[in-house]
Amino acid sequence: MRILLGVSGGIAAYKAVLLLRLLREQGHAVRVIPTRAALEFVGAPTFEALSGEPVSTEVFDDVPGVQHVALGKGADLVIVAPATADFMARAVLGLADDLLTTTLLAARCPVVFAPAMHTEMWDHPATRANVATLRERGVHVIEPAAGRLTGTDTGPGRLPEPEDIAREALSLVGPVGTPPQPQDLAGRHVVVSAGGTRELIDPVRFIGNRSSGRQGVALAQAAAARGAHVTLVAANLAQDVTDQVRTGERPCAVVQVESTAELRDAVRAAGADADVVVMAAAVADFRPAATPDAKIKKVPGQGPAPIELVENPDILAELARVRLRSGQVVVGFAAETGDASGTVLEHGRAKARRKGADLIAVNAVGSGRGFGTDSNEVTVLDGAGDVVGQAAGSKREVADALWDAVVKLLP
Ligand code: CTP
Repeated sequence: MRILLGVSGGIAAYKAVLLLRLLREQGHAVRVIPTRAALEFVGAPTFEALSGEPVSTEVFDDVPGVQHVALGKGADLVIVAPATADFMARAVLGLADDLLTTTLLAARCPVVFAPAMHTEMWDHPATRANVATLRERGVHVIEPAAGRLTGTDTGPGRLPEPEDIAREALSLVGPVGTPPQPQDLAGRHVVVSAGGTRELIDPVRFIGNRSSGRQGVALAQAAAARGAHVTLVAANLAQDVTDQVRTGERPCAVVQVESTAELRDAVRAAGADADVVVMAAAVADFRPAATPDAKIKKVPGQGPAPIELVENPDILAELARVRLRSGQVVVGFAAETGDASGTVLEHGRAKARRKGADLIAVNAVGSGRGFGTDSNEVTVLDGAGDVVGQAAGSKREVADALWDAVVKLLP
């Protein structure tokens, strides 16, 4: 892969040297473009020796090669690390007064900024507004790490470790030869519920279901890879799925819930400013009318005590009806087995019309299908029950197909 490594002028520029070495060790061709100020911190010979390529800061070097356009157009990925507050402000304005800023204007590949600055500068409304603008335009701005800063101060603003920057940046482009990951959810907030809710019968027993959360987590990770800010509302995920969330290539905000009432509260809170809400969780339709504080004991000679159930709110139907934010896209799933009264698709169609969501992904479950497996097969219906898509493959592939359908509905 051909990577341009922009370096702007901050003390963290020394870490760009480590990032450069890492990217070269991974087999990438890297051209370093420092700003003038960056060269106050690290000398050009260091970058030249480690990249094996010339280093210049000015548009007036190699004028016949029209470098300031050629470099940007020929790149598969641009990483700016560190990106100072000043540099981000210049990028927002579209300034073109050195080789790095002109290159950014010419680049059409994914662009990643790894900011580094003092906490006060990072928190300043001007910087926050610049970061928001960059994200809206599709630049992937990595959250800075928290920790020791230049002086004795600590807090958010530290340049993330080179390994973390490389992993996050490379996740945007995929392996060499594959098309770049589209950043069509950049600047969007999406909420995905995953897993299965549990309703307590007593302190030790519950009514639950077999959902592992795999499809929901695949949706969350696919959205994050497409540039979205993701909130994952996680209901009792299987352990390996929880591990997958922790080690995922791109971070999601995770809210853990157990019951349907908790899931409803969490989805509604996170959904207030979301562009998209996807209800991938398997939600219990009923809950015990009361949950005693003590374990229910069996009484010798008496049969089991009946458990009275009451209906849970239908979260998806509510979301579709109220729309927490105008223009919000609401997506649901319909896990069906099919029965004497209808096929999987017929039940899915009826559910699509009943729920009022914009999209419903219908999948066949039962007999080893759907639950806990790594693959899935869905038919995507619109709110009228008409087929608008079909997807089969890994849960990640199905997730990407569903996001393709969602993106078409976004304003
Ligand atoms: N759902 C929900 N709230 C509920 C039940 C389901 O938000 N109380 C959502 C699920 O997250 C899913 C969709 O509705 O996106 C369909 O869930 P499913 O269990 O297939 O359908 P039900 O509405 O429960 O209908 P039925 O059990 O009759 O198939």
